[in-house]
Amino acid sequence: MLCIEPAKLSDAEAIHKLVTFWADRGDMLHRPIGEIYEAIRDFKVARLDGEVVGTGSLHIMGADLAEVRSLAVKEDVQAKGIGAGIVSQCVDDARMFGLDRVFALTYKPGFFEKQGFSLANVMEFPQKVWNECVRCPFFTNCKEVAVVLDLKDDLRVPLA
Ligand SMILES: CC(C)(COP(=O)(O)OP(=O)(O)OC[C@H]1O[C@@H](n2cnc3c(N)ncnc32)[C@H](O)[C@@H]1OP(=O)(O)O)[C@@H](O)C(=O)NCCC(=O)NCCS
Repeated sequence: MLCIEPAKLSDAEAIHKLVTFWADRGDMLHRPIGEIYEAIRDFKVARLDGEVVGTGSLHIMGADLAEVRSLAVKEDVQAKGIGAGIVSQCVDDARMFGLDRVFALTYKPGFFEKQGFSLANVMEFPQKVWNECVRCPFFTNCKEVAVVLDLKDDLRVPLA
């Protein structure tokens, strides 16, 4: 049985392993295990028969903005809607918190466009660029693409 739910502290090692697997292949940025423990309340996990097979997190950046981070799905269960389900839960959380916009920096903009995001200029998110990107070793040679989902005019009822 597959379910997507908030992560538990005991999921941190599995989240780290999954993110590290894709980061080692250049598909996403690494997240140190300590950062995952600190941010565990931001994380969702997809569980298939108890095993963590997907993860992603919603990081609040300020009064009106949050970022989807560390989205990763295990290789043998991709293309089954798990990534989309994780993003959808992160966006539901963003609506519940009353956020105006959700963005992501990604090497897979096409995936996010399928989830309703639009291409954006990273400079629309100065709090990200000047607080975090500047410390990233890839800052001057960043290949990530910014995508954004505007929730301001969204009339859908948030899932409780
Ligand atoms: C990107 C990733 C999270 C997608 O997860 P997934 O569970 O395989 O994706 P889903 O099955 O939910 O796909 C949802 C839709 O997006 C599409 N899609 C998936 N990956 C895509 C990509 N790289 N580019 C364009 N569209 C993509 C699917 O075809 C599907 O379309 P549909 O709704 O028309 O059927 C997964 O491939 C992954 O973990 N990749 C490695 C790590 C990574 O790249 N993370 C994201 C970087 S920020």
